[in-house]
Amino acid sequence: MSSEKVLIFDTTLRDGEQAPGASMTISEKLEVAHQLARLGVDIIEAGFPVSSPAQFEATKTIAEQVRGPVICGLARANEKDIEAAGKALAAAAKRRIHTFIATSPIHMEHKLHKKPDEVLKMAVNAVKYARQYTDNVEFSPEDACRSDLNFLYEILSAVVEAGATTLNIPDTVGYILPYEYGQIIAKLKENVKNVGKAVISTHCHNDLGMATANSLAGVRNGARQVECSINGLGERAGNAAMEEIVMTIHTRPDFFPTLTTGIKTTEIYRTSQLVSQLTGFVIQPNKAIVGKNAFAHESGIHVDGILKKRETYEIMTPETIGLDGSQMVLGRHSGRHGFADRCKKLGYHLSKTDLDSAYQKFVEIADKKKEIFDEDIAAIVSDEVRSIEQVYHLDYLHVACGTGTLPTASVKIKTKDGIKLAAAFGDGPVDAAYEAIREATGLAPKLENYTIRAITSGKEALGEANVRIADGKGKTFVGRGVSTDIIEASAKAYVDALNRMAAPTTAPETKEQL
Ligand code: KIV
Ligand code: ZN
Repeated sequence: MSSEKVLIFDTTLRDGEQAPGASMTISEKLEVAHQLARLGVDIIEAGFPVSSPAQFEATKTIAEQVRGPVICGLARANEKDIEAAGKALAAAAKRRIHTFIATSPIHMEHKLHKKPDEVLKMAVNAVKYARQYTDNVEFSPEDACRSDLNFLYEILSAVVEAGATTLNIPDTVGYILPYEYGQIIAKLKENVKNVGKAVISTHCHNDLGMATANSLAGVRNGARQVECSINGLGERAGNAAMEEIVMTIHTRPDFFPTLTTGIKTTEIYRTSQLVSQLTGFVIQPNKAIVGKNAFAHESGIHVDGILKKRETYEIMTPETIGLDGSQMVLGRHSGRHGFADRCKKLGYHLSKTDLDSAYQKFVEIADKKKEIFDEDIAAIVSDEVRSIEQVYHLDYLHVACGTGTLPTASVKIKTKDGIKLAAAFGDGPVDAAYEAIREATGLAPKLENYTIRAITSGKEALGEANVRIADGKGKTFVGRGVSTDIIEASAKAYVDALNRMAAPTTAPETKEQL
């Protein structure tokens, strides 16, 4: 039986990044794009170039530097957007323009203020214009699942005629159920003229928790591209999770006979961790496939079964997603070579300078903590190598607290204008440290979220703090800090978030018009 490929279109860097607080810097996006290429995705939607200069730059940088997948840019159905996407993608070895316009009555009337025939004309013109930049053009009728089916047949037939090579069917508001979505795809295959000239694609949002099921129902009914994001990152409840789609097709060949994806599944876990670290979106422990507990068996009956035969309670192995379970432990005597070797085995491709700074941090931590695990190395690399421009640098932190004492903190923050000193008290040591940092920097963003977790177990474990701050102008920023001292980790996370607030991010500025 010959196999058929389901194309994996990753939109972590576009739709995923629209999740509030998930914006990444250009270099972070590039790092994710390189990892997506290693993972084997077919198409990377790198951004929405017209929406901001940083989005344009991020798409352009990825188009210039990432090889393997097709690089795609999003554009509304107008010449300005398409031109920006065409320019940003010019250097890509393989490029695609993804143009879209809403087709549901509610969107056409209240958002676009346009009649269906005007929308159809705009869609056709957009596809024809995009074809001047590339022969790989995708069209999306936004809010397709609340659109009139006959209008969908008409507009999709017209865009295929105009040169669209992928027809994407978004469930923009996550409203549809699996049976209905499967039926829509099946009907489009029957009723869109020349549908064989295009690939049908799914694009499902997770508002009712159906995104994965809907996408797979689409695949069962003939879709051969799935749009998804790592960890299901995305606006509101997110997009369909790539790892769930891929592992379902992989685990259930009886249900998806002849279908394969080009994904190297052993890269799934690493990619998931990278996206979580860079966006600060912590993965829930019971998240399918990539959650901390996804392969943990606790109850006596299950453990007993697993020991007798793994398949009694395990439908896939952790090794398949790149969790090999063989934790190498390093320590202060491991040396630079041992550290470099482990980084390489864990998939980090570090420059000499990055390796030097990560190694220095490793030595510092190894002095305090006897055993350094793989998760610690991941945290060190993330903390040292991925740090952004240090507009504010935490040079000194002293905190005094205890029973019957007013928690107080003093800090020294290095800036380009010199050292700023401040002292403050607060409800607790973290609050006091944050107040002192606010005093020293003169910045007072709203603290929206604060979490702290131990990266590995044991009393010497590294602590990882995550904070989300809001600048009061509608933007949020996530910061992360790692240390064996949790107060220091918390302060570093706060300063990291302030640095992100000071740096240009790639979050689109025209989000409300999407
Ligand atoms: O959800 C959606 O409708 C989208 C489109 C831009 C494809 O993300
Ligand atoms: Zn979407």
